[in-house]
Order: sequence, then structure tokens, then C-alpha cells
Amino acid sequence: MRTVHVNLGDRSYDIHIGHDLPVGASLAGEEGLRALVVSDGNVGPLHGERCETLLQAQGLTTSRLDVPAGEASKDMAFMQRIYDAALEAGLDRLSVIVALGGGMVGDLAGFAAATFLRGVRLIQVPTTLLSMVDSSVGGKTAVNLPQGKNLVGAFYQPVEVAADLATLSTLPEREYVSGLAEVVKYGVIWDAELFRRMEESVDGLLSRDATVLEDVVARCCEIKAEVVAMDEREAGVRAVLNYGHTLGHALEKELAYSGCLHGEAVSVGMVYAGELSVKEKGFPEDERDRVAGLLKRLGLPVGVRDLGTTPAWEKLRGAMAADKKTRGRIPRFVLAERLGSVAFGCAVDDDLLKEAFAVIGAGAS
Ligand SMILES: NC(=O)c1ccc[n+]([C@@H]2O[C@H](COP(=O)([O-])OP(=O)(O)OC[C@H]3O[C@@H](n4cnc5c(N)ncnc54)[C@H](O)[C@@H]3O)[C@@H](O)[C@H]2O)c1
Repeated sequence: MRTVHVNLGDRSYDIHIGHDLPVGASLAGEEGLRALVVSDGNVGPLHGERCETLLQAQGLTTSRLDVPAGEASKDMAFMQRIYDAALEAGLDRLSVIVALGGGMVGDLAGFAAATFLRGVRLIQVPTTLLSMVDSSVGGKTAVNLPQGKNLVGAFYQPVEVAADLATLSTLPEREYVSGLAEVVKYGVIWDAELFRRMEESVDGLLSRDATVLEDVVARCCEIKAEVVAMDEREAGVRAVLNYGHTLGHALEKELAYSGCLHGEAVSVGMVYAGELSVKEKGFPEDERDRVAGLLKRLGLPVGVRDLGTTPAWEKLRGAMAADKKTRGRIPRFVLAERLGSVAFGCAVDDDLLKEAFAVIGAGAS
């Protein structure tokens, strides 16, 4: 087992990464605690019982709510269902909400924990690769509104993250591969050595090799913990985590969140950011090609056509301008200077944005 400490003063916590981990160890010794496990219709039946047993082993009384799987459950109607279940289970201010699932459940249950009784404790038990390396760490919680994604939420740190790699054995292949895009991102933005190790471990990554996964997931969590500790509320450097996300979010929006998975959109977005980076930051062309090459070897899309559809540039440009992280309708990009080092807040000339899109719009290189 590996442990990564997230250093945030009195909101500090540990992330445990390994196989067959305990859950709720951070609460050991406290008596009479209640836990509501929130999961979804895929994960609950597979891993819910074990999670509850592990919590009971720490002395907690548990109950569980499974919401339907899928992004549509990340809304205020299901938030109300969680509040109802929390009241029914008799949760009090010392109780804990346990988010067992991918990023959807993590965001939904996280916001419930942030708001129920003005805040109860939260344990994240991520079960997708994306949620292990990204959404369960750093304290962002949210629900969607009909008007857009993640428009309501809170920064709310968990007291513990238990990333049990054994749960990944049931994760569908496409979801797993999609999560690898975020892993590649950490290499590009922060750690060229991690990137090199990934290039050498493609087979191990694709076969979900236990040792490779523990090493890679732990390193990604270390990087996210370091970035979050520098900038918990996204006032500055935390923006580097959005590498590939400016176009990625626009693609997700234009494909109505159903045509492609988050990691797939981010993969194409990273190839796009690589093109811009060569022009704007002198990102070496061979490093740009290594990023696209690794994404491709991992089975990720590297061109817009690989997503099975080609949204018009004007629509994507409009979606980038409307992103909630945009100021004055000018999209800001994270751009690579070299592998492991990026600059953030970069405005890019419109002609160049379109030119780079033509390159990646052409599909896989
Ligand atoms: N808070 C953050 O910082 C942050 C960061 C990135 C993404 N997000 C959010 O995360 C969500 C996406 O997360 P995701 O990609 O994990 O998707 P997800 O939670 O929707 O899970 C993807 C699918 O995999 C299934 N699944 C999950 N774990 C499984 C397992 N072990 N075995 C079998 N099936 C399993 C789920 O039921 C679902 O059908 C989005 O809502 C996004 O906005 C949040």
C-alpha cells in the first residue's frame, strides 16, 4: 500500500492506494458513528457490500443508497434523495458520507457531505481510474444544472481517500482507457520521468498490472496533492491540471456528453494543446509527437475524427468562449514548454486556434 499525504493544514488527509484496502481507518476509535454509503447502480451491487463490511469492521453503523449510474444523476433531484436517505439513516454532525464510485458519485456525494447539516465528514472511495487520480483528490464537489455542468458546488476536502485498485478489475475497458488520458496529463504537466515510465509500461498499463498501477496512481496523486496544496481554491497554479481541457470541455459539450468520455475528449484536447504549444512556447516537435504517440498506443483518440464525429470549428470556438473558466470570452490555455513543464493562462490568437484545429481535425497522425 502507498500513502500520499495532502497537506492542507487542519484539512489535511491521507490518500491510500493499494489492493484490498480498509475503509474508514481514519475514524478508528470513534464510537457510535453512522455512515451513509452513496454509490451508483453499477458499482453498488459490485462493491457496496464489501465497503459496508469494511466500515462496520471499524465500528460504524452503515446504510447505502445507490443512485442510477450516469451523469444524469449528478443533479439537485438526486441531491434531495441523498438528504432523504441521510435523514432516514439518522446521520448527525459527526457522521460520514462515503462516496463509493467514479467521479459522478464522488462529486454528488461530496456536495451532499459539504451541505448536509452544514457539513458532515466525507470519505472518497474512488472506483474508476479517473476518480482515483483526479476527482477524488483535491476537494472539488459539484452538481450539474440544466444550464450547464458543475455550476453548483463547493470546495470540500474529504477526511480520507481509499483508492482500492482491486475495484478496477470490474471497470469496463473503455472507462479504464479513458482514465489513462488523465494519467498521461500528469506526465506532460509535471513529471517527464513519469511520462517516460508510462512509455515503457504501456503493456502493464493496458493489462492493469498491479505494480505498474500502484506506482502510476500514487505518483499522479502525489502531483495532484502538491498542486492542490499550493492552490486549493484554483486561484492560480491549479489551472495546470486543465491541460487539454479547454478544447476537451468544448468537445464534451458539443457532443452533448454522450458521444465521448471525458478522458477521450481530454486526449484530443492534449494533442491540440501540443500543436498550440509548439507554435506559442517552442514545445519541441519530437515531444509533441511522443505525447500523441503514447496516447495512441494506449488506445486513446488523437484527432477529432477519432471521436466518430466532427463538430464545426465555430461551434467549438463558441463553446470554449462560454466555458466558466473563460474571462472576457477569451479562452485561456495551459501550454507545454517541454515535457513536465507548462505555462497557464495563455491567450492564443484566433487564427492559430483555427489552424491547430485543422491539424487535429484531420484525425490520427
Ligand atoms: N471533482 C473533480 O475534481 C472532478 C475532476 C474530473 C471529473 N469530475 C467529474 O467526474 C465525473 C466523471 O467521472 P468518471 O469518469 O469516474 O465517471 P462515472 O462516475 O460516471 O463512472 C463511469 C462509469 O463506470 C461505472 N463504474 C465506476 N466504477 C466502476 C467499477 N469499479 N466497476 C464497474 N463499473 C464502474 C459507473 O457506474 C459509470 O457507469 C464527471 O461528473 C466529472 O464532472 C470531477
